[in-house]
Amino acid sequence: KEIGLSAAPYLHFFQDFWCPPYCIEGVNNFQKHFHAKDNDVLVASFPKSGTTWLKALTFAIVNHQSFPSFNHHPLLSSNPHELVSILEFMLSHDLHDQILSLSNMSEPRVLGTHLPFSSLAESITKSSWKIIYICRNPFDTFVSVWEFITKAKSVSSPKFTFEEAFEKYCNGIIGFGPWWSHMLGYWKESITRPNKVLFLKYEDLKEDTKFHVKRIAEFLDSPIIQGGESSTLIENIVNLCRFEKMKDLEVNKSGCIFTFFEKKTLFRKGEIGDWINYFSPSMIEKLSKIVEEKLGGSGLSFKIHS
Ligand code: A3P
Repeated sequence: KEIGLSAAPYLHFFQDFWCPPYCIEGVNNFQKHFHAKDNDVLVASFPKSGTTWLKALTFAIVNHQSFPSFNHHPLLSSNPHELVSILEFMLSHDLHDQILSLSNMSEPRVLGTHLPFSSLAESITKSSWKIIYICRNPFDTFVSVWEFITKAKSVSSPKFTFEEAFEKYCNGIIGFGPWWSHMLGYWKESITRPNKVLFLKYEDLKEDTKFHVKRIAEFLDSPIIQGGESSTLIENIVNLCRFEKMKDLEVNKSGCIFTFFEKKTLFRKGEIGDWINYFSPSMIEKLSKIVEEKLGGSGLSFKIHS
């Protein structure tokens, strides 16, 4: 099956999710050749749900001892996606070299993925990896994806209207979707294995960043939660990764990421409820019904207004 709603022209239904074609090989390589280490940390997300932000926060927490200065921090000179690679993208080319560079990375490694929980490499699900997952209310997620892919360079931009893309989204057809199965896969895992999977929502992180950064640090057993300087350290990490601050950094204003995208398009509005400016009343009704149908009874719900 091939239907488009992706940076690349077509999506393939593969292992029960809609996979962008440019990473099918990467998914296979990830599952076959990747070896998890017990102290690895995985940042997992549905695309456009706050991945960049969570990568930055997690990188800063995990590496705070290597980079104690917030004035000369790697996040001031590198985009979070350059510091935390998405495994299925990374392993889609030059496999041998990429596996070697992964094994040479300093530990604990912080790595990323957009894959559904059911498609993660066995070595992750069976090891003592910690997974931090983020998703976002389905209304804002759709708008954020739409804005992102319409700004993609040349051939990769979508060939359909907002309304057509919305219809596909309602049918689950979106890169790494269906979005409801993606969320529910990690949600269920976070309930059965709370020490292994921490489930976060963009809206919660936005509302009380400090509280959730502390939760992440506790989940990772990070030393930053101990000692008298804990509160200041957490505040410094929150400030380092603030939307306005990251958006304003030279490194995030120019250049491309994932071939098709300008880095600056990763930092758009960073708000809860922007969807209101895009959706017609019938779209609101339709998506609300789908959210209820797919997520109702799971215990997973979202705030959709700021
Ligand atoms: P909007 O498109 O609604 O503005 P991802 O990182 O998964 O691609 O998610 C992108 C969304 O997160 C975008 O939302 C972007 O603006 C927002 N974002 C990026 N960096 C952020 C940060 N540091 N704090 C809060 N939101 C951020």
